[in-house]
Amino acid sequence: MADPINTEKTPDGAAATTGFTTPACSPCDETQPPDCCMVIFGASGDLVRRKLMPALYKLFRCNLLPKGFFVIGAARTAMTDDSFRAETEASLRAAGDFDEGLWAEFSKSLFYRSVTYADHSSYSGIKGALDELAPGRSNGNCVFYLATPPAVYAEISRGIIYSGLRGSGWSRLIIEKPFGSDLKSALALNSELYTNYNEDQIYRIDHYLGKETVQNILMLRFANAIFEPLWNRRYIDHVQISAAETLGVEKRSGYYEQAGVLRDMFQNHMLQVMCLAAMEPPSVYESELVRDERVKVLRALRPFNGDDINDHLVIGQYGEGAIDGSYVRDYRREEGVAQKSQTPTFAAMKLYVDNWRWQGVPFYLRSGKRMKKRFTQVTIQFKGVPHSLFRRALPGEPGPNALILRMQPDERVQLKFHTKSPGGRVCLRDVVMDFPYTLDYMGVTLDAYERLLLDCMLGDKMLFVRSDGMALSWSFLTTVLNLIEERTEHSPKLYKYTAGSYGPAEAETLIQKDGRDWVDYGEDDA
Ligand code: NDP
Ligand code: BG6
Repeated sequence: MADPINTEKTPDGAAATTGFTTPACSPCDETQPPDCCMVIFGASGDLVRRKLMPALYKLFRCNLLPKGFFVIGAARTAMTDDSFRAETEASLRAAGDFDEGLWAEFSKSLFYRSVTYADHSSYSGIKGALDELAPGRSNGNCVFYLATPPAVYAEISRGIIYSGLRGSGWSRLIIEKPFGSDLKSALALNSELYTNYNEDQIYRIDHYLGKETVQNILMLRFANAIFEPLWNRRYIDHVQISAAETLGVEKRSGYYEQAGVLRDMFQNHMLQVMCLAAMEPPSVYESELVRDERVKVLRALRPFNGDDINDHLVIGQYGEGAIDGSYVRDYRREEGVAQKSQTPTFAAMKLYVDNWRWQGVPFYLRSGKRMKKRFTQVTIQFKGVPHSLFRRALPGEPGPNALILRMQPDERVQLKFHTKSPGGRVCLRDVVMDFPYTLDYMGVTLDAYERLLLDCMLGDKMLFVRSDGMALSWSFLTTVLNLIEERTEHSPKLYKYTAGSYGPAEAETLIQKDGRDWVDYGEDDA
């Protein structure tokens, strides 16, 4: 294993001390996982190259992998250990922050075996490698990461069992999204997994839950006395959750054409973030209790029905346009997309949580590809003052206060409020109190995949989706998907929007007819 690295690069390139050597950060030091190994299926793929291997390398650099840790990559493609290492090296170099010495050491723990998922005898290469490498290194513990297209999840889960890959210790299965494509298929996959695994062994990943600032929603709400008394229908007018991407469908059209934005972003990321913003405080910050509270929000979601769907949902698909001055083509002209594709790349949705705290408070959710700016944020928009003292001196009412929890691209918390403007006797202005999330923090930060891989090795399921949560979010969304995909006269229309905009005009109308506006990325914020 490498020595702990003591320096991290700050965004401006300056060296900074990591949390491991900074006593002030010691309460936040990460726990080292027990001895284990990882078998990654789909190891020749994009996710492994772009996210998982860089995440493991970062954990290695931070001395957060167990001492004898090793990875066996597996996929159908024939590759040797050396070619797998060479591919990994290329992707780590491309990601930047590459250290020759550390790589030389890390690469020794990478192996590759090819496999045909339906043929159980073909797992013998993986089994042989495990038998050879595991003694003295993994204590029989293994994380199996399913990073393949979902069609083969069930097959692989069986292959692991029938070819005897499970060791003498614990076995955990990380399942990538999408977990099913509707309620029925998700429940079928769940039952299939339950024939060989119990819920404790299944880690359904939603990488948004691993993002620092998504986790921070709970810290901000429940570690401070000042927000929670206001966090309810008496003081909050509405909540907005926006996840705007500038990227298009990239090379994932095969998957995306079937999924669309509702399956891709809403069933998982958007609803999970909403759960954190809306949930009740658990009595203790403990995995099952936090997951219980997230699930209760999903259970309280008011279902849509055919009659009101158009008041609650707008879907769109990007047309050609420009982002940051560069031309981008129409979704239907992307490689692998049908010329008459009806797949939505944008959705705006108005939701209600039918419980005591949130009765009557709308949650507006919006996500789309090829939008003007990349940003993800939760906005808590408070109600206005009950009585304006300043009405005679002002042209209009002062706007409402807002708390903005920005997750991307810059992680920050902002509070918008009014102060007296210096000068004129009665003159108000809107100001922003701004807290950049990593201000004064020089320690290590883990990105979503780093956090989640570490948590799985530690057996901490708080940031993973439990089966009841998965089923409830599919149950809510399947009704919506059916209403769209049945294509009846009541089905929501698919509106075209210009790439580089914030979605179709109808999405503005959805919120404006309630007398409200979307809060976009503040152009002068960052
Ligand atoms: P890829 O399409 O790159 O597929 C991964 C690997 O799976 C391929 O290298 C291929 O390897 C194998 N594969 C492809 N088709 C099949 C098939 N029909 N049967 C068996 N194996 C197949 O996927 P990604 O890496 O992009 O994604 C993997 C999983 O992670 C997916 O479920 C995806 O939805 C999810 N995900 C991906 C994200 C990303 O950014 N890429 C983000 C979030 C989730 P080989 O041919 O060598 O077997
Ligand atoms: C993935 C979706 O889960 O999340 C992608 O499949 C999307 O389509 C991505 O681009 C967004 O993640 P992030 O972390 O870049 O906001």
